[in-house]
Amino acid sequence: MSAVGIVAAAGSGSRLGADKPKALVELAGRPLVSWAVDTLLAGGVDEVVVAVPAAERDAFAAVLPGSVALVDGGATRTASVRAALSAAGPHADAVLVHDAARPLTPPDVVARVLAALAAGVPAVVPVLPVVDTTVVVDAAGTVTEAVPRAVLRRVQTPQGFDRAVLVAAYAALDDALVDALVDAAALTDDAAVVRAAGVPVTTVAGDERAAKVTVPHDLHLAALQATR
Ligand code: CTP
Ligand code: MG
Repeated sequence: MSAVGIVAAAGSGSRLGADKPKALVELAGRPLVSWAVDTLLAGGVDEVVVAVPAAERDAFAAVLPGSVALVDGGATRTASVRAALSAAGPHADAVLVHDAARPLTPPDVVARVLAALAAGVPAVVPVLPVVDTTVVVDAAGTVTEAVPRAVLRRVQTPQGFDRAVLVAAYAALDDALVDALVDAAALTDDAAVVRAAGVPVTTVAGDERAAKVTVPHDLHLAALQATR
């Protein structure tokens, strides 16, 4: 099985508030995007395509190996992944989609996702349990119900797909469906795209170290943990 990795790195990082795109922000001396690319390669992916902010292409090219393909991302994560997917080699059997914003993801997570695909599942996501009490609130912030957390999971990346399944699911994703899913806050990852196409999504164990860097506190925590 050959696998291509896609790194979604075209976001601006507005919540992090740095003076450059989040994927170029450094963690222990290396940009977040470099950590993400290295994790995919170390975990067994054969080649990598990175979706970057169009205006920053040169800056990304300067920090990534020449073997990594760059494509201009879009206005949303979905658009960025779609662009990278069309540039990803058609010879690959599998596609792993990873966030540049998860720099410390252990290669073991990549390996678990690849193993599930090799075993024949069409789609697989790394997940972790929910440990906090989790509730639903109304518009006033009053708790209306507690959610049974035993059935809940937090979903991470890289998410793995049979390449033909993911390509078909993105092709079936027309603008009206995107709008409906975004309105329902149901289009935050690639698994949602294949689920909208009726494809079952299985799970493997994620890892707390694959936490997403979203706000400055997350970067401080990552800096304490960065050892590679
Ligand atoms: N992403 C992307 N293209 C976009 C938006 C996001 O490739 N148009 C990527 C980001 O680069 C990031 C991942 O999707 O690696 C997860 O998104 P998020 O953590 O929300 O990053 P940003 O969108 O950059 O951050 P913010 O929402 O705070 O602006
Ligand atoms: Mg975002």
